[in-house]
Amino acid sequence: MNPDLQLLQPYPFERLASLLKDVVAADVDRISLSVGEPMHKAPEVALSALIDNLSGVENYPPTRGSDALRESMATWLTKRYKLSDDINPQTQVIPVNGTREALFAIGQCVLDRQSNRRLVLMPNPFYQIYEGAAFLAGLQPEFYNATGAQGGPPDLHAIPDSTWQSCQMIYLCNPGNPTGSTLSQQAFEALINLADTHNIVIVSDECYSEIYREAAGAPIGLLQAASAMGNTAYRNCLAFHSLSKRSNLPGLRSGLVAGDAEIIRRFLTYRTYHGCSMAPPTQSASIAAWSDETHVAENRKLYDRKYATVTETLAPVLSLDTPDAGFYLWPELPVDDETFTRDMISQHNVAVVPGSYLAREIDGKNPGKDRARLALVAPLDDCVVAAERIRDYLQEHT
Ligand SMILES: Cc1ncc(COP(=O)(O)O)c(C=O)c1O
Repeated sequence: MNPDLQLLQPYPFERLASLLKDVVAADVDRISLSVGEPMHKAPEVALSALIDNLSGVENYPPTRGSDALRESMATWLTKRYKLSDDINPQTQVIPVNGTREALFAIGQCVLDRQSNRRLVLMPNPFYQIYEGAAFLAGLQPEFYNATGAQGGPPDLHAIPDSTWQSCQMIYLCNPGNPTGSTLSQQAFEALINLADTHNIVIVSDECYSEIYREAAGAPIGLLQAASAMGNTAYRNCLAFHSLSKRSNLPGLRSGLVAGDAEIIRRFLTYRTYHGCSMAPPTQSASIAAWSDETHVAENRKLYDRKYATVTETLAPVLSLDTPDAGFYLWPELPVDDETFTRDMISQHNVAVVPGSYLAREIDGKNPGKDRARLALVAPLDDCVVAAERIRDYLQEHT
């Protein structure tokens, strides 16, 4: 067996299941704020396209997807990020089966296990796939604190020069999971310059980019920042996007990777061997979803309403800033995060994720400790009832 498999850590939900294994749930309906699975309705345009194109399964699909699919993705990226040069659908974008597999696979493609640069930078707290990708590529994860001041964006300036020099690739999560914070143009520029100096590939996980608060406006992305700097070839830059959160299609398994044409070309070769092409009906549904913004705007309104009501309900017990993007709350708790998680099940049957399960302890500090991740994915009424139960619990226990 590959010995690197032993380095993989239990997934946060495995740890959560073992934390709750002996806990008897309160006798009220379960409300889940734990899994980041969108529960709003999938768009009709995508579902119809899926059904109308079922016969596509009679053919093997090419790994790079159909021209029509890549064109729909390139058009969306160019418009959404106001790119000065259009994304080239032949060379600068490819479909992937959700960003999860692609975030893992890119590490296997880009990282050089013979190099004496041993590090892959990644945020903490983080999406655990980044860590597994580094381990299975034979490299070492190096965490940077992604909670910033008051839960703001990560301070990349705090990363020492020696770390940049030993690093081959950096994962960004923008907007962040779980913080919902977003990087400024200035922060992106500094990062792109550093990546240029040290020849580091930037992997920007932007799967929450379309779930932003209307009041905060659309966050900028890596390609937009690069384009504004005149790096229209997106040298060393890759952006990862998904229909899972944007279009409430987590089961479709559809996303894209766009940016540096040379890396995309190599990634396509890797993927040809990996054998992970996208099913033709999925491609048709994806074209419909990338080409429609109406459902995306409606989706944002639903989240905006939930944030307004839930933060008002929790205001007496938690100090909460509404994040600019994403669908999580990441409050600091007045109690231990594991105790809170167990009690919320046993006393109120609300499922949450302990913050410490989404981060690693570095220099004696786990940035998720005594925080919880609350995913506002359930319908509005359920989110409000969950918030009332959390408020009641905290009022009673603090
Ligand atoms: C930060 C982050 N990146 C990537 C993903 C993967 O999304 P998908 O594979 O559905 O595109 C998730 C899913 O929850 C996520 O939270």
